[in-house]
Amino acid sequence: MCGIVGYLGTLEAMPVLFDLLKRLEYRGYDSAGIAIAGNSIRTSKTKGSVDDLVSVTPNVHGNIGIGHTRWATHGRPTSANAHPHCDDARGIAVVHNGIIENYTEIKERLIGRGYEFRSETDTEVLPHLFGEHYCGDLEASVREALSDVRGSYALAAICESEPDKIVVARKGSPLVLGVCGSDFFVASDVAGILKYTRDVIFVEDGEIGVITGDGIRLTTLDGTPVERDVETMDLDPEAAEMSGYEHFMLKEIFEQPAVIRETFSGRVSSGGIDLDLGMDLRDVERIVVLACGTSHNAGLFGRYAIERFSKIPVVVEVASEFRYMNPIIDDRDLVVAITQSGETADTLAAMREAGSRGCKKLGIVNVLGSGMTRECECLFTRAGPEIGVAATKSFTSQLAVLLLLSVALGSDRKVLSTASVNEFVYELRQLGGNIQRVLNDAPAIKECAALFTDADRFLFMGRGANYPIALEGALKLKEISYVPAEGFPAGELKHGPLALISEGVPVIAIATRDTVYDKLLGNIKEVEARGATVVGIASEGDTEITKYVNYVLRIPDTNPLIAPILSSVVLQLFAYYVAYHRGCEIDKPRNLAKSVTVE
Ligand code: AGP
Repeated sequence: MCGIVGYLGTLEAMPVLFDLLKRLEYRGYDSAGIAIAGNSIRTSKTKGSVDDLVSVTPNVHGNIGIGHTRWATHGRPTSANAHPHCDDARGIAVVHNGIIENYTEIKERLIGRGYEFRSETDTEVLPHLFGEHYCGDLEASVREALSDVRGSYALAAICESEPDKIVVARKGSPLVLGVCGSDFFVASDVAGILKYTRDVIFVEDGEIGVITGDGIRLTTLDGTPVERDVETMDLDPEAAEMSGYEHFMLKEIFEQPAVIRETFSGRVSSGGIDLDLGMDLRDVERIVVLACGTSHNAGLFGRYAIERFSKIPVVVEVASEFRYMNPIIDDRDLVVAITQSGETADTLAAMREAGSRGCKKLGIVNVLGSGMTRECECLFTRAGPEIGVAATKSFTSQLAVLLLLSVALGSDRKVLSTASVNEFVYELRQLGGNIQRVLNDAPAIKECAALFTDADRFLFMGRGANYPIALEGALKLKEISYVPAEGFPAGELKHGPLALISEGVPVIAIATRDTVYDKLLGNIKEVEARGATVVGIASEGDTEITKYVNYVLRIPDTNPLIAPILSSVVLQLFAYYVAYHRGCEIDKPRNLAKSVTVE
C-alpha cells in the first residue's frame, strides 16, 4: 500500500526521492508527491504514476526532502488528496502511511480554531496538529501532537523553520532508515533503499526519530532515548532489481531453485531437519493457522502436511474473519501466522487477538524486521525481497517451511520413523533441482498459455494437498490477468462448479500421482464429457493421463507432498504467460497492493 520515502544528505534530493518512489511502486498506489525543504517547503504532487509526477515537477534544488506514493483509502485518488499534506502557516509538510482513526474529531476541532483543510484525507490533520503545537521545535511538536492521535502511522515531516532535519515516527506501519556515510534514507521497506545502502535501522512502534547531518537519534514517544545499532542486511542489492527480466514476477519465479536452497540452508541435512525453534512444542494439542490470500493457501497446504506427518490437528482461518470471531484458543494451541510481508494488518491483529488468549505463537515470515517479527518467534522463509504484487517465490518457500515444520513435529513426536524422515529429506534435497527442471519447460508452458489468451474464465481443480494449489493457481491467474478463475476441490465438482462447464471452458487439473489420482481422473472425465478443454499437470512418466486430457504439463516425479510445490511453479508460469499474452500490467495489477497494511 502507500509508500513513504525521505532523503537527507550530500546529493540533490529530488532525483533521489523520485528514484526511491519508483522502487516502492510495487507496493501499489494511485498518486504520488514530494516536498523539498529549503527557505520554504516546495511540494509537487499528482494523481497517477511517479513518472507523471516527474513530468509535472519543476527542478527544485535542496538536499532534504520527503515523498509518498498513496493508495487511496480516505478520499479519492486526486492530486489534492496526494501527500505531502502541509500546514502553510508553519511551513510543515508530512507524508503518512496508516489510518488516523480519530481524524474526524481532530479535524472538527481544528476547523473550529480556524484551520482550513484542502483534502478529504485523514492525514491532513497531522501537519495542522504539528503546526498547532509548534514552538520552534518540530520534534517536540510531533511528540506532543501524536499523544492526541489514535490509529496507525509511519510518517515523515519536514519544516521550513528547521530545514536541516527530517522527523519520523512509527506506530503500526513499517518504517526503516538507511545510513550510508553522510547520506540518510527513509523508506517503508528495505527494498526501497537497497540500491543505496544495506545498513539500516528499523524504527519500532512508539518511537520518534530525528535525522540530521549529524546522524539519527531515536526516542520513545515519552522522550526516553533509544539506543539501536545499525544492522547490515544480508541482501544482494540486485535482489530488488529486474536484472534483465521483463517483469519482477518472472524474475522471482526463476529465482525459486536458489530460494529453496536458501530456505533449506542449515535446516535440512543428511542428519534430518533442524529448525532451531526457540520454543518447546511438545505439549501442543492443536495448531491454528492465520493468514490472508496466498499465505492462507499455503496454510491450507500446511494442514495436509502437518496432520499427515505429526498427527496434530490443524485449523486454518482467514485472518480477517478470525479477528472478529471470539475464537476459542488457549495455552494448548500453537497459533501460526503466515505472512510474506509480516505487515498484513488483519494477520497482525488476528495474531494479537490469539496471543491475548495465552497460546504459543509462531510466525512464518519473509520480511526481516517486519511487524510480525515483533509479535512472536519467527521462522523466516528467506525468499528475499518480493517486488511483484503476485506472490510466487514467497509462496513456495512458505510451503517448504511448512513441510520442514511438519516433519520436525512428526519426528519429535515419534510419528515419523528415522527411516521415513531420511527418505523425505532425500526427496526434499532434490527440490531445487526439480524446480529448475520445471523452469526449463517454461517455453512449453508459454505455448500452452497462449492457447487460452482469450478464455473468459478458468477452473482449477485438485484433490488433497493439490486442492490449495488449485486455489492458488486460480488466485494467481485472476490477480494478474483479470480473468475470472475459480479453484475448488475436485470432489466438489458435482456440488456446483460443474454448472460452469460448457464447450471449450479451460479446466486446469492438478493430476500428479498420489492416493487420490484415480478419483481425479474420474473428475476429469466429468468435465471432459461436458466439453471442457482440460490441461493436466502430471508427473513425468505418467502415460495414463494423456488419455484423459487435451494438454499435459509435466513435473518431475516426487513425493506427493513435495509435488504441490512443483505444480505451483507450473501454475505461476501459466498465469504469468496468460497475463503476458493479454498485455496486462503484470507486476502492478490494478487495484492491488503488495502489502495490505490497513483492514
Ligand atoms: C498474493 O499474490 C497476493 N498479493 C495476496 O493474496 C497476499 O498473499 C496477501 O495479501 C497476504 O499477504 P502477506 O503474505 O504479506 O500477509
